[in-house]
Amino acid sequence: MLLPTNLLRLSTRTIKHSRLLHGIMAKPRVYITREVNDESMNLLKQTCDVSVWSGSAPVSKAELMKNLKDSQALFCTLSDKIDKEVLDVATNLKVIATMSVGYDHLDVAEIKAKGIRIGYTPDVLTDATAELTVGLLLATSRRLFEANEAAKTGGWSSWSPFWMCGPGLSQSTVGVVGFGRIGQEVAKCLKPFNLKRLTYYNRSERKEAKEIGADKVDFNELLTESDFIVVTCALTPETKNLFNQEAFKKMKKSAVFVNTSRGGVVDQPALVEALQTGEIWGAGLDVMTPEPLPLDDPLLKLKNCVILPHIGSASIQTRNKMGLMTAQNIVAVFKNEEMPAELIV
Ligand code: DGY
Repeated sequence: MLLPTNLLRLSTRTIKHSRLLHGIMAKPRVYITREVNDESMNLLKQTCDVSVWSGSAPVSKAELMKNLKDSQALFCTLSDKIDKEVLDVATNLKVIATMSVGYDHLDVAEIKAKGIRIGYTPDVLTDATAELTVGLLLATSRRLFEANEAAKTGGWSSWSPFWMCGPGLSQSTVGVVGFGRIGQEVAKCLKPFNLKRLTYYNRSERKEAKEIGADKVDFNELLTESDFIVVTCALTPETKNLFNQEAFKKMKKSAVFVNTSRGGVVDQPALVEALQTGEIWGAGLDVMTPEPLPLDDPLLKLKNCVILPHIGSASIQTRNKMGLMTAQNIVAVFKNEEMPAELIV
């Protein structure tokens, strides 16, 4: 049936109008790549249409791309690699909020070039990560997992003068690599262990170091003089493979190496060799390449290496705060408010 021209114009306008209204009133769609805490979900649902990947493993790239096509916000974690291929389909994205302080999984330059804002979660995980770092250091040096295993499996035959001994912290030199929030907190936590010296290596001098009692040293001095080396720096092109064969060779044979930053700062085959040949005494790793570490990885076979599955920030309170801050970063964008933690580079 043909409509009279007037009626046709009216109905076209009505359709346009209702689309416009829908456009104004429709909530922005946020895609979340893992199930998160109720508080974060509830906050997001007030402002956004929420769609969640509910698998126990990270979402696949294909599924992520499919979901990002019509999403205005992405709530992701460090397991999600957000690269150019992903971004090219995400043409409606206004904000990417990662539930992490690290952002090496994001192609920041590409995201910024597309005018997409980035939220992350600094500060709220500092204490938890520092706690875990100290725990990992002690578990490695005092062989806690090895000793526990021996006690449970019949390896404990008697108290024995030098059995299960390892280097003590007291009167030792600790070198912290990367003296940002987490590095400084680790240093503060270690200070009461009666250290001989606390040093740090960082691109720039940190004013907080004086009060903490840490001396800035160059990388060479940190490597050669430290009894414990603790890595808390971000993974950047400058820090990628910073700990290579040459670096491990410079360390004391009695050195304990602890990494809670990113696996990429270590040349892993070089670390394996250093541990196998006794170039260094031991290593405690909360991060490695790849994650999860395959069960046949040589690192898992070494007695002098403690491996944790990237749990630095995994205190209940901290993960709740990280989730909430990620949600708040997204909501702020749609309310035209300041994001609690926007990544400005
Ligand atoms: C981060 O937030 O980057 C941590 O590695 C996660 O614990």
